[in-house]
Amino acid sequence: MDSPSEKKSPSPEAGKNPGPKSLSPEAKSSPGKKSPSPTTGSPPAGTTTIEGILPASHWTDQPIHPDDDADSSLGDDGDVASSTASLTSSIMAYRTVHGRTFHSDRITDAQYWTPNDDQATEANDIIHHMLTLVQDGKLYKAPLNENISRALDVGTGSGIWALDFADEFPNCQVLGTDISPNQPTWVPPNLKFEMDDATLVPWTFPPNHFDYIHVRYLFGSIPDWNSFIAQAFNCTKPGGWVESYEASCVFRSDDGTLLEGSPMDQWGKVFVEAGKKFGRPFDVVGEGLVQAAFREAEFEEVTEWEFKCPIGGWAKDPKLKEIGEFALAGILQDIEGWILFVWSQVMGWSKEEVGVYVAHLRRQLRDPNVHAYCLMRCVYGRKPQPAA
Ligand SMILES: C[S@@+](CC[C@H](N)C(=O)[O-])C[C@H]1O[C@@H](n2cnc3c(N)ncnc32)[C@H](O)[C@@H]1O
Repeated sequence: MDSPSEKKSPSPEAGKNPGPKSLSPEAKSSPGKKSPSPTTGSPPAGTTTIEGILPASHWTDQPIHPDDDADSSLGDDGDVASSTASLTSSIMAYRTVHGRTFHSDRITDAQYWTPNDDQATEANDIIHHMLTLVQDGKLYKAPLNENISRALDVGTGSGIWALDFADEFPNCQVLGTDISPNQPTWVPPNLKFEMDDATLVPWTFPPNHFDYIHVRYLFGSIPDWNSFIAQAFNCTKPGGWVESYEASCVFRSDDGTLLEGSPMDQWGKVFVEAGKKFGRPFDVVGEGLVQAAFREAEFEEVTEWEFKCPIGGWAKDPKLKEIGEFALAGILQDIEGWILFVWSQVMGWSKEEVGVYVAHLRRQLRDPNVHAYCLMRCVYGRKPQPAA
C-alpha cells in the first residue's frame, strides 16, 4: 500500500491511496449575523471573528435538525469529582470539565485536551484499529531489527499500541509512558507503564538507552517539538530508530465538497487558533514540525510517509472505505471529548454553544456527499553511529 522511501499523499477519491489549570477564555464569542446552512454556503462577510472562525452564535442561531441532539453527553461539573473524592492518590484527582474527566495537573503542569475516561479510551482504540488497517496490520514503519531489547511508547494512552508491540517483540522490554494512569493492569511480562511527563526536560532515561521510540498523536500536547524530539534522540541508542505518527487537525476535500464556513471547516480553524492560545500547536502536520525537528536533531535516513485518511465511507476503494468508516466511528465515539476542553476552556464557548456546534458537526460528518479526509504523516529516522 505504501513505500516508506518516498513521500506521497494521493487522494482517497482516486481509490489508489497507497498509501486545567483553567485557561482564561481569551476569545469569548461575539454575536454574529445569521449565515447560510453550514453545509451549503460560505458565511457572509462580517460574521467571522479571528482568522475565519465563526462565532458560537453562528451555530446557536441555526435550527438543529430534529434528529440531532444538541444536549450531547456533556454533564455537569462535579458529578465525576464526587466519585473520586475518596481516593487519596493525587494522581487520580482528575480535573472535570462539564462532567468529563481530564488529566490531573497536580502531578505536573502538563495540560492535555482530551478526557481520560472510558469514552475517550474507546475512541482512541478505534483510531488505533483504523491506523492498523491503513498499515496492513503493521505497527511501525522503521526497519526494526527483531532482536531489539528496549522500546518506549511516549504518550501511550490506553496502551493499545504498546500491548500489540510487546506481543510482537516478546524479548523486548517495552515501556509506555503517559500523564494519565488509564492503562490496563494485565499486560504481557515484557510491558510496563509509567507516569511521565514527556515535556519535562531533560528526560530521566539514560542517554543511548532505547532501540526504538514510538510517538503517536501528541498534537496539541507538545509546546516545543524540537526540544521533544531532541530528548528522544538523546535517549535512543546509536543505530536505533525514532518514529512519529501525527494527524492533521484540519479536514480537507480535494473536490470542493467540504465548504468553507461549514462545521468541519471550522473544526480545523478553531484547533489551529486554540493551539496558538494554548501554546501547544495542533496542526503539527500542516506546519511540518515533526520532520523539521528530526532534521534539527540530526537523525539520518529521515523518511516521511503521508496518507489521506478518508472521514466516512465515501471512498470507492473498498479498503479506503473501511478505513474511512473506522475513522468516522472513532471521531463520533467521542466527538464531545475531543472538542470540549478546546472549545470551552481555550476558546471560551459555553456548554450549550459547544453542544449545538457538535450537533451541526456530527450531521456534516455523517453526510456521504462530503468527501473529507485528514492528512496523516509518519516520520522516522535513525540515530547515527558515532564517527569512528
Ligand atoms: C491521543 S492520545 C494517543 C495515545 C496513543 N499514543 C495512541 O496513539 O493510541 C495522546 C496521549 O498523550 C498523553 N499525553 C499528553 N501530554 C503528555 C505529556 N506531556 N507526557 C506524556 N503523555 C502525554 C495523553 O494523556 C494521551 O493519553
